[in-house]
Amino acid sequence: MGATALGVTRLRAIESNRASPLVVDPYAERILEAAASAGSAWTAGSGSGAPRFFQLMRDQVAVRTRFIDDTIAHAVGDGIAQVVVLGCGMDTRSYRLSWPAGVHVFDLDLPEVLAFRDEVLARFVGSGSRRTSVAADLREDWPRSLVAAGFDPTVRTLWVCEGLLYALPAGAADELLAEITRLSSPGSSVVADHIVDSPAFAAAREEVSPELLELWQGGPAHVDTWLSRHGWEPEVRDLRDEAVRYGREIPEEIAGGQDEAPRTLLAVGQLASTN
Ligand SMILES: C[S@@+](CC[C@H](N)C(=O)[O-])C[C@H]1O[C@@H](n2cnc3c(N)ncnc32)[C@H](O)[C@@H]1O
Repeated sequence: MGATALGVTRLRAIESNRASPLVVDPYAERILEAAASAGSAWTAGSGSGAPRFFQLMRDQVAVRTRFIDDTIAHAVGDGIAQVVVLGCGMDTRSYRLSWPAGVHVFDLDLPEVLAFRDEVLARFVGSGSRRTSVAADLREDWPRSLVAAGFDPTVRTLWVCEGLLYALPAGAADELLAEITRLSSPGSSVVADHIVDSPAFAAAREEVSPELLELWQGGPAHVDTWLSRHGWEPEVRDLRDEAVRYGREIPEEIAGGQDEAPRTLLAVGQLASTN
């Protein structure tokens, strides 16, 4: 089941226990316990003894998750009534956030990933939001599965791509956005984080496992043109700047040096409204 998704969950569990956390995920520890009993080794921490990779990713995950939570709050406050979380992994925001009545959240990931997460969460969480799990492969006809699950392309939607873009080759990221665009009514939004790879970051991944090294497929070369080519108005931020706002720091191995182009990014795209 989504090994890398468990690594992210581990970091959210650690964040939840920090003083002044940016995100509190009350289910992260439960998921990790269930994964550990299922034999997953992906529950390493981010303390000084943990592989450098987890130390590098710790604040990136905290900041990006908080930024996306805030973007969601803003979007649903603005009347967006559908949210689709692509490659949701062990993300629990459809359970942990307080959703206004009428908002429909779709969580999409591979069948075995969703089956594990939903089975664990069903033990602890009652049915709150209008939430639908969509078991689908982003390399196949996922739009059909999404629509079959109740997604309505005529309703304004916020699309969430968290921890996903860099796992896709550039062409696949382009195809993904083409499908998102086809399914989006005017006034829809997309939010994504991205990490541009570097030799130092690749070395930190290689220390963990060959699979983690290979997970980085590059994603879009330029997130702003990735969005604008498909008709989305882009707003791309350096994740380091958001981190500074929260009193956090992103290490140079993943964020780039002060004189380099930023390597950790947060992007929001907007499709113009018709009115
Ligand atoms: C690094 S994890 C991030 C999970 C989650 N978004 C988060 O931030 O906690 C990437 C997720 O993408 C999912 N994923 C990767 N390839 C996929 C595909 N072809 N179809 C559906 N999901 C996929 C994985 O199963 C995994 O859960």
